[in-house]
Amino acid sequence: MADVVTSEASQFTQKVENRSARIGIIGMGYVGLPLALLFSEERFAVTGFDIDAKKVSSLNSGGSYIVRIPGTEIQAAQKHGFRATSDYSEIASVDAVIICVPTPLNEHHEPDLSYIRDTASAIAPHLREGQIVILESTTYPGTTEEVLIPILEEGNSRQLRVSRDAASKGFYVAFSPEREDPGNDTVARRDIPKVVGGVGSRALEMASSVYGSIFNRTVPVSTPAAAEMTKLLENIYRCVNIALVNELKQLCHRMDIDIFEVIDAAKTKPFGFQAFYPGPGLGGHCIPIDPFYLSWKAKQYDFRTKFIELAGEVNVAMPYYVVDKTVEALNEQSKAMKGAKILVLGLAYKKDVDDLRESPSLTIIELLKDRGAVVAYNDPYFPYVGRGRHYDLEMHGVSLDNLAQYDCVLIVTDHSDYDYQRIVADSKLVVDSRNATKGIRSEKIVRC
Ligand SMILES: NC(=O)c1ccc[n+]([C@@H]2O[C@H](COP(=O)([O-])OP(=O)(O)OC[C@H]3O[C@@H](n4cnc5c(N)ncnc54)[C@H](O)[C@@H]3O)[C@@H](O)[C@H]2O)c1
Repeated sequence: MADVVTSEASQFTQKVENRSARIGIIGMGYVGLPLALLFSEERFAVTGFDIDAKKVSSLNSGGSYIVRIPGTEIQAAQKHGFRATSDYSEIASVDAVIICVPTPLNEHHEPDLSYIRDTASAIAPHLREGQIVILESTTYPGTTEEVLIPILEEGNSRQLRVSRDAASKGFYVAFSPEREDPGNDTVARRDIPKVVGGVGSRALEMASSVYGSIFNRTVPVSTPAAAEMTKLLENIYRCVNIALVNELKQLCHRMDIDIFEVIDAAKTKPFGFQAFYPGPGLGGHCIPIDPFYLSWKAKQYDFRTKFIELAGEVNVAMPYYVVDKTVEALNEQSKAMKGAKILVLGLAYKKDVDDLRESPSLTIIELLKDRGAVVAYNDPYFPYVGRGRHYDLEMHGVSLDNLAQYDCVLIVTDHSDYDYQRIVADSKLVVDSRNATKGIRSEKIVRC
């Protein structure tokens, strides 16, 4: 039996090497679509699965819905066989299934694994012997073993089981976290080492061979749980360090010290210090959410993750701090917040991305409105903002033509395309929560 399994894994590796392996990617979002395109660039035939019919139809007509991915890249991939579908029966025709579906928090701030569960239930009936299923969604340690595998085994009409060692046949399972930093072009995606944890040595070998074809380096770890925890450590490290500089920023303001000058000086140390920057609060699908996946899991072990909770507290308070600083800045101009006209500059959770998820700008707009301000916004990536999981704004963006009509321009996202010199020149008052006006000298600027 061991020989049969060995030859199955080596046949798979051969198919990867000669590019005849077919790749199925589930979830054509910010993670899944770029991954599909990377495989296509390497001449693999890729099928993208998504339950969103609009995304499927846009991809099949050669169009993109993510700003940084031009339609020409989708059309180039189509030439290598890329297509999208909502039909899960097509899972049977692929050799590797890679899951990139959302992992948000529910209304009680607990992990919402419904997307992973739904995906696993949809895949299970179509699983074949020898296929590998790899989970990429960020989640707590134990998800692959405790949630994904049981659903795949139970929903599988052929009664296939996960192969755990060299002697057992079945399907293979691994976890490999997505580690990209959207909007950060300093490291090519291929150069981000790919961490992989397999259920057994064959799964690790197969997953490493799939990813080895598109990434320059793979980093094997002993179990899926170790790979799941690696991703959380990385994001918790960011979350805690951002909270630290957010707290120090508030102290520096009281002490009349420029925190950005301090960070720039500290980062000249050639070892032992990595620069993190303060801002108006955390956003995005990862850093504000992922740490709480671990906090939740830790409770099952009767363990309190105090660093995570404290960092969460500091970061969640930042939009309130920005609004308080705006009240003070208006006050200095003998202007009350109630009735003040405020333009929020930038909605995206960070600069140069078309992603609004968990953005602090949404909380800031709501807080400003609650305090009676008349709020408008501008963001080149969002001409309109409607309803989302945690907001209901229904606003259209405005132009930057007549900035003098606002009592205050509040910089929340420092998009590169903005001309900050002109914005300061044309505005009555600028509150800058991102240090976007660094180097511009003007009494109109209040940095917070
Ligand atoms: N966006 C990032 O920068 C980033 C970085 C690292 C890790 N991650 C992680 O990657 C995962 C995916 O994130 P994302 O940003 O790509 O999310 P996304 O919302 O952009 O994309 C997810 C896609 O999955 C689809 N989907 C949902 N349920 C489905 C189902 N049952 N079957 C098929 N398709 C389904 C959705 O329609 C959507 O298109 C998350 O766990 C996230 O934490 C994201």
